[in-house]
Amino acid sequence: MTDASTVFVLNGPNLNLLGLREPEIYGHDTLDDIAGQLEDRALGLGLTIDLRQSNHEGHLVDWLQEANASGVRAVLLNAGALTHTSIALYDAIKAIKVPVIEVHLSNPHTREAFRHKSYVGMAAKGTIAGFGALSYRLALDAAASL
Ligand code: DQA
Repeated sequence: MTDASTVFVLNGPNLNLLGLREPEIYGHDTLDDIAGQLEDRALGLGLTIDLRQSNHEGHLVDWLQEANASGVRAVLLNAGALTHTSIALYDAIKAIKVPVIEVHLSNPHTREAFRHKSYVGMAAKGTIAGFGALSYRLALDAAASL
């Protein structure tokens, strides 16, 4: 059962490897750690978190459409590398009414040039990037204020 007190937290390719994957860039927190931090924060905000991860673009498109159909408060979306390539995600965000907040652990603008373009960011309500796991909690605060 989802409603306006639910926030979807959608994670794309390779984010299942957080904690192991390039910790000097992405930190030591796993996605489960981040889920726990978000659940704690959500409790105080009167919100419920539905956190999901997939390595497949189509799953993210399906979940964005589901978020809209079920009337959730907002979507936090860390699309991983699909951020920089996926017109399907751009179209999916444009197609729905629910606000989407782009999230990144790292700051893509300080990294390789191919990370400077964000199709997600071109369609999202706003972006929070560069604060490690804290980016997710800041994005949840933003979602709570919408
Ligand atoms: C990322 C940044 C992307 O460029 C990269 O492909 C990722 C993680 C981040 O959270 O910093 O997979 O989205």
